[in-house]
Amino acid sequence: MNYIKLNDGNRIPAVGFGVLFIPEGKETYEATLTALRAGYRHIDTAAGYFNEASVGKAVRDSGIPREEIFVTSKIWIQDHGYEQAKVGIARSLRKLDLGYIDLYLIHQPYGDILGTWRAMEEAKAAGQLRSIGVSNMTPKFYREFIPQFKTKPAVNQMEFNPFFQQKELRKLMEADDVKLEAWYPLGHGDAKLLQQPEIVRLAEKYGKNTGQIILRFEYQEGVVTLPKSTNEGRIKGNIDLFNFALTEAEMNTLRALDTGKGAFDPEAPGIEQMLRENYVITD
Ligand code: A2P
Repeated sequence: MNYIKLNDGNRIPAVGFGVLFIPEGKETYEATLTALRAGYRHIDTAAGYFNEASVGKAVRDSGIPREEIFVTSKIWIQDHGYEQAKVGIARSLRKLDLGYIDLYLIHQPYGDILGTWRAMEEAKAAGQLRSIGVSNMTPKFYREFIPQFKTKPAVNQMEFNPFFQQKELRKLMEADDVKLEAWYPLGHGDAKLLQQPEIVRLAEKYGKNTGQIILRFEYQEGVVTLPKSTNEGRIKGNIDLFNFALTEAEMNTLRALDTGKGAFDPEAPGIEQMLRENYVITD
């Protein structure tokens, strides 16, 4: 596994395994263990995925030393605000039960972001969180909040793939040395992307599948990716990216595929309310 250096001196495995929508209990436990056995060393969960406890148990049971596994979680909107964020952080620490969390993110950019961030800075100083960052901060949210933070976030986790390359946002983030983490790095299985002729041509040239070409492009762009797969072969293949390299001309060909449009708009009216109403942590 290759690593990417963060602006706080820590390093993050370049590819991670995301557990969004995998049910708490046996399913998340087994999926996490399968990923760890396949060679993943980076698991991405969230309080709002409702499966932190099973991720923590799988990591503890894996037999792999704790310090070799990078675990990300995220605070949910209902825990925003300085005092409440302390409650949210404590809950994630308790459920994961791994001593510390490698990376903790503000999952959604709504409510009292500044108070939430202060609580996270304090938990980082106390060693409970090793790195801290944000998620779903579009250029508008990024410009609103990041200049007011005392500590720059280590990452911003966003939707990103060759059809949605976040060019404006990445310029802002590069100025602060904030790394991009990609959710939907394969366009959520978009057949147009996975069968795009240039990508198919490169897959044939390098003897890889098209998903691996996309993930390699993203890695060479300095992006941490969280590809999703339920297929064992593809789960393994999606971290087998480090024995070939795309040329600069090929990178430019893929850079030109950007449409500037994605599947999810954090600024869309009603999104905050929909998330607050539909995803509520009760324990
Ligand atoms: P599958 O589970 O059958 O592998 P994203 O990570 O952007 O959300 O995309 C996930 C989708 O991409 C899933 O439908 C998954 O299907 C598919 N997928 C995952 N890895 C690959 C790959 N290497 N090549 C092609 N499709 C892939």
